[in-house]
Amino acid sequence: MKISFAEPGLPAAGAVVAGIWEERELTATARRLDQASEGAIARALAGATRFSGKKGEFLAIVAPAHLPVSRIVLAGLGKPEEAGSRVFEEVGGALAAHLNGAGEIEATAAVDIGDAAPVEAAEAAASLAFGAQLRSYRFDKYRTRQKPEQRPSLDRLTVTTASPSAAKQAWRRLDATAAAVAFTRDLVSEPANIIYPETLADAARTLEQFGVEVEVLDEPALRELGMGALLGVAQGSVRPPRLVVMQWRGGGNTGAPLAFIGKGVTFDTGGISIKPAAGMGDMKWDMAGSAVVIGLMRLLAARQAKIDAVGVVGLVENMPSGTAQRPGDIVTSMSGQTIEVLNTDAEGRLVLADAMWYCQDRFKPRLMIDLATLTGAVIVALGHHRAGLFANDDELAARLIEAGKSVGEELWRLPLADSYDREMDSDAADVKNIGGGRAAGSITAAQFLQRFVNKVPWAHLDIAGVAWSSKDAQTVPKGATAFGMRLLDRFVAKYYENDQ
Ligand code: BES
Ligand code: MN
Ligand code: ZN
Repeated sequence: MKISFAEPGLPAAGAVVAGIWEERELTATARRLDQASEGAIARALAGATRFSGKKGEFLAIVAPAHLPVSRIVLAGLGKPEEAGSRVFEEVGGALAAHLNGAGEIEATAAVDIGDAAPVEAAEAAASLAFGAQLRSYRFDKYRTRQKPEQRPSLDRLTVTTASPSAAKQAWRRLDATAAAVAFTRDLVSEPANIIYPETLADAARTLEQFGVEVEVLDEPALRELGMGALLGVAQGSVRPPRLVVMQWRGGGNTGAPLAFIGKGVTFDTGGISIKPAAGMGDMKWDMAGSAVVIGLMRLLAARQAKIDAVGVVGLVENMPSGTAQRPGDIVTSMSGQTIEVLNTDAEGRLVLADAMWYCQDRFKPRLMIDLATLTGAVIVALGHHRAGLFANDDELAARLIEAGKSVGEELWRLPLADSYDREMDSDAADVKNIGGGRAAGSITAAQFLQRFVNKVPWAHLDIAGVAWSSKDAQTVPKGATAFGMRLLDRFVAKYYENDQ
């Protein structure tokens, strides 16, 4: 879809979209269209029982014969005082879905919100385009027999606003964000015969073109470093593991960097503790944490973020085989701590333990945040609407929650405490990789991770419930969500970029 910004004015073709505030209050463009169509909008609104201008509502009317446009689409904007940039993203997303559903090929959306909304019109215009772009994402490269009516129809979206140049300026950053989101969604969506540790590392290497320094550590290098926990997971697969280190030095390489760590299990069968058949295909997206970290590093570089950041992702495939690790095996992690692997399906924490240790050891980061599709238990606790947040630092937790709220990627904090930590004590080694029973599975997983965290502000995002969605949402079509990328981009920009 091609996005452009233009001065206010009636288009020569396609659909024209005008905003209506809640309680049927017309924006200036809607009023102008009402006059141009001899009151057609007022009549339609008077008769509409399912449209009152609430956010996400649409009402389409056929344009009168003397107007060159095909249809007039009224878009509900909700209450003016609540219409921040996130609302315009959501309206843009819902609008793209609406226009595609109606088979429109081109559309012109007017953003003339006056002074009532808490956002500049130019930013609102860019946000609307951004939402439309995010919602228009598709992963259909393997669908070779798609009929035209199964493909999205909308080719061009023009957003009109009093200051198109300011909107274009705001769009540059959002366009880079949408591209990074699509890049991450693509990586997560690819099946495990295409994306495995070596090919995911290759995808990370493409970040070099944005100015990111990328290092790929192979199996002998990981052995040299003593990463017994990560290697134990990888040993059942014919696909060798990789650890990718990405550095963006936009802050001048002066202070300690922000560090982001991702779980990259390119397929999780469970290993010898094998998973049941039903739903196992989902485990192709067990590398979502790493894809988000890779996408984030790309975005920070693409927008020339004034910050030093490192991304470290541990990439393995968890398979059962004659060489696979067995329940009961004891491995030695890079930290020196020994781990009794009682369940080979609790593999993400083993990968993260070594990736986090490596990162702290080498970079002495200012703070460290890991993302992982770590536990089914977090889905039991929070479902698909919030990711689990664990942190050893209240300020860091509060900042992450706040950043999540502003981009619509919400977090919910869960506790860490010694009482849970004790459950991870092993009779045979320093720590075991599963808790006593099924209780508090996400918390015991986080406690395991914390044993590999030194004195550094650290947060863990368990994204198992939010990395993939089975239903369309306003700005997130069903499938891979890239949850966490926009959140962390906002987190970096809001709290760290100006004070290094
Ligand atoms: N990758 C899974 C967690 C997961 C489950 C992600 C469902 C997305 C959807 C993880 O490696 C895993 O298997 N966790 C186990 C841990 C258990 C063995 C302690 C789980 O959650 O069942
Ligand atoms: Mn697993
Ligand atoms: Zn897993």
